[in-house]
Amino acid sequence: MNFKVYYTPFLFKVKQENSYLHIQSGGPNGELSASLQYLTQRYTMPDERGKALLTDIATEEMAHVEIISTMIYQLLKGVSIEEIKKEGLGAFYAQHDCGVFPVDAAGVPFTTAYISCTGDFIADLESDMAAEQRARATYENLMNLTNDSDVLAPLAFLRQREIIHYQRFKELRDYYLSKKIQKK
Ligand SMILES: [Fe+2]
Repeated sequence: MNFKVYYTPFLFKVKQENSYLHIQSGGPNGELSASLQYLTQRYTMPDERGKALLTDIATEEMAHVEIISTMIYQLLKGVSIEEIKKEGLGAFYAQHDCGVFPVDAAGVPFTTAYISCTGDFIADLESDMAAEQRARATYENLMNLTNDSDVLAPLAFLRQREIIHYQRFKELRDYYLSKKIQKK
């Protein structure tokens, strides 16, 4: 996908959405958190089907990190210091300029304490289903905070993907339970 073309309309606009969007970059229910959780858990899935699903979704989540990071960057790039200060983004600018750093909406840095990996594939898959529901809810919160159609469109797309991921994890969990597949 060519993000540069798709997201060009909101280049050079600074907005509070910029700080809000960080919650899906470095926040507890964000894309980086989901990607690392699934990549960590993939090893203890009981078969190739499970390992493949977690690897696939983790890879897609990393692509979503890129989408969110691109949005954050494009909302900040090229704006004046006055606008940055006016929109309450001075603290972020002081530390990172227009660099994209994984923090949450309040500026708290990313930590692996956000992710879980138990080695029990049913527990992990149910944790992943919950992670997807939390991500969907967070996207809905973000969509309530903006009326910019150029921000809303990618958020709606990302929200939809979380619903699909939830369904894929649930299918796998249900398959393992129905086949009575045990932890090795
Ligand atoms: Fe997801």
